[in-house]
Amino acid sequence: MIFRVGAAFYLINLIFAEAYNILAVVPLSAKSHYAVVDPLLMRLAELGHDVTVYDPFPKNKKIPRYTEHDTSHCSVSEIPVILSIENLFSLLRNMYLGITGMFLYSVDEKMIMECTPLYELLNSTKKFDLFITSSFNADIFLIYANKFKIPFITYTSANKLFPWLADRMQNPQNPSYVPELTTGFLSNMTFVERVKNTSVYLFALFYYNFFVLTKYEKVNKHLLGASAKPLYDTIRNTSILFLNSHNSFSSVVPLVPTVVEIGGIHIKSPAALPKDIEKFINESKHGVIYFCMGSLLRGDTFPEEKRDAFLYAFSQISQRVLWKWEGDLLPGKSDNVMIAKWMPQRDILAHPNVKLFISHGGLLGTTEAVYEGVPILGIPIFGDQRTNVRAIESNGAGELLDYNDITKEVVLEKIQRIINDPKYRENAKQLSDRYRDRPMSPLDTAVYWTEYVIRHKGAPHLKTAAVDLSCVEVDGNGGTSSILQSYPSQPPEDQES
Ligand SMILES: *[C@@H]1O[C@H](CO)[C@@H](O)[C@H](O)[C@H]1NC(C)=O
Repeated sequence: MIFRVGAAFYLINLIFAEAYNILAVVPLSAKSHYAVVDPLLMRLAELGHDVTVYDPFPKNKKIPRYTEHDTSHCSVSEIPVILSIENLFSLLRNMYLGITGMFLYSVDEKMIMECTPLYELLNSTKKFDLFITSSFNADIFLIYANKFKIPFITYTSANKLFPWLADRMQNPQNPSYVPELTTGFLSNMTFVERVKNTSVYLFALFYYNFFVLTKYEKVNKHLLGASAKPLYDTIRNTSILFLNSHNSFSSVVPLVPTVVEIGGIHIKSPAALPKDIEKFINESKHGVIYFCMGSLLRGDTFPEEKRDAFLYAFSQISQRVLWKWEGDLLPGKSDNVMIAKWMPQRDILAHPNVKLFISHGGLLGTTEAVYEGVPILGIPIFGDQRTNVRAIESNGAGELLDYNDITKEVVLEKIQRIINDPKYRENAKQLSDRYRDRPMSPLDTAVYWTEYVIRHKGAPHLKTAAVDLSCVEVDGNGGTSSILQSYPSQPPEDQES
């Protein structure tokens, strides 16, 4: 068993449960988004529900009760051009640009109009019991919840609620101790950090309500007609929002019952490694370092002097190194380094001989290392990566290496320290134990709440009353959000006279 799963009654419950029709529209073409919802959709089909999915990563095989519509040809949601590490770093490390950067690969009306499967779905007469979509940045797909008039669940692949998500669930998001994702802060902030964090919070809420939601609202009216329910109301009907976090590892924050943590849902039991990789790891007397900068950042776009710093450090150590490197050649690599364009990361991290994970701190990979108790040397580039690496560091299970600080000496020193000092490994193991110790696995949790929402017709009883109050009535989260919660057409009340 991966996680501690109790509850035989739960299985019995499943056997006698009804079969439902579930629709999922998840066309964001980023693997890290899809990886969070895919296990849930597959399991729902296994449990006997009819699952209809619109996504850009077709499985191209027949799965019982699982109908897939390929949207890969119509996806406009790739991160545009700037794929080099250097570019992303200089553009998005700014915490304000970082948060608007979330919308760089969001979606517009054209995507639906020009995407045959998505367009046809607008005219479908099928009946569904539940709708599932991503609410990372693209609320546009909620037009399908409006069209079918059914309860819906959304999920975010991030481990923090963006201000606009906290707002719709009326989840307390007090900026004095709830850090925003792109700031890189942990919950115990200094005064200056709290001021910055508050400004990012307000900026993001403002930007979303005035630029993003208004844009999607036009699409909603255009595609569904003037009588369509406003998206501003629709988003507040979210039954459950799945958050890709777990309190054992990221900063602890208060959560309303409609926000459910499912962090780790993407982690499957380890599979057998390819023979060459397994042999390479098996035969390393001093252990192995696994080095990967994620699927969006290509290792071969590292500037030369930074790449050389790693090559040098690796040539000085007795460990072997597995380096996910997208180029054909890696000039100057020492014999203890093996490169490959793709590596089975989750399975590599599960091998007991892997001593260190050098990573950009992306959430999925960080979670996998936490799960397996592998220390991390994290080089955050953008988005939530700094927050993730700092969380690891604050647990004593690794260190942060600032991109600007990459030099031969620093890289070598940090690698040697983490490998030679046993406390990193011990802390990582403790973190892993805490991470795995739950009443239900994240996948079972997600299945439970999905079925719960259908059984209880959208489960409106779980919502806090704040969701239905107007902006004037809500006393906000410390008063900071009450003005911005309003729709642009509603001016704040004049307090002066
Ligand atoms: C690696 O070691 C494990 C455990 O000793 C063994 O079962 C496996 O066959 C080895 N694999 C290779 C490719 O040598």
